[in-house]
Amino acid sequence: MSCGKVRNINMIIAPSILAANFGNLKEDIQRAEAAGADWLHADIMDGHFVPNLTFGPQVLADVRKNTCLFLDVHLMIEKPELFIPEFIKAGADMITVHEETCPHLHRTVNMIKEQGVKAGVALNPATSWHNLQYIVRDLDLVLFMTVNPGFGGQKFIPAVLNKIKAFKTMLEKTEKKLFLQADGGINDETGRLAAEAGCSVLVAGSYLFNAEDMPEAVKSLRN
Ligand code: DX5
Ligand code: ZN
Repeated sequence: MSCGKVRNINMIIAPSILAANFGNLKEDIQRAEAAGADWLHADIMDGHFVPNLTFGPQVLADVRKNTCLFLDVHLMIEKPELFIPEFIKAGADMITVHEETCPHLHRTVNMIKEQGVKAGVALNPATSWHNLQYIVRDLDLVLFMTVNPGFGGQKFIPAVLNKIKAFKTMLEKTEKKLFLQADGGINDETGRLAAEAGCSVLVAGSYLFNAEDMPEAVKSLRN
């Protein structure tokens, strides 16, 4: 497989490396890959938009050197347009920005796409999906936060399921196909709920990296 290919399967499983051991990242990436991961999800946090810090383009470039999996980069940062070129240079296959950080969302999304990378928009649990109907044709993915962004290991917020369903209903009235992604508190039970609501990409951090049997945990999400 060449690097960064999107696999054509019903349910895409994207382990979030936020839950990996950063002292041993290469080994944990290989573990996720061997367990059947389809994408790798990279959570970038700036300590402003969200109350936590993670890593930047240098670490992503090192991740890229160690895997051919599709790199799904979730920017939880203010002024994402300042860093998008760096993350693309580092090897991102898709960049997802938060609607809440982009006053000129159409411009930011098209800046990503013009550089040959897929573009996504993320919504916090309390953010409405309605603005996205005006930009849906430009998007490859919508990320529904099912926890408040900033930390792994939080509890899934079930109220987001109705938002996913409502968005999906709107989407079905258009010709557009895109990935709907659920991120936060995903395990075998909540993953099933998100899939039933219409998601085709499940991000999971602690459920996968803390599992005793990671291949089994990946399978439980895929099914
Ligand atoms: C949260 C991040 C998530 C996080 C998910 O702000 O966007 O990707 O890593 O972690 P879990 O699966 O542990 O909730
Ligand atoms: Zn994320």
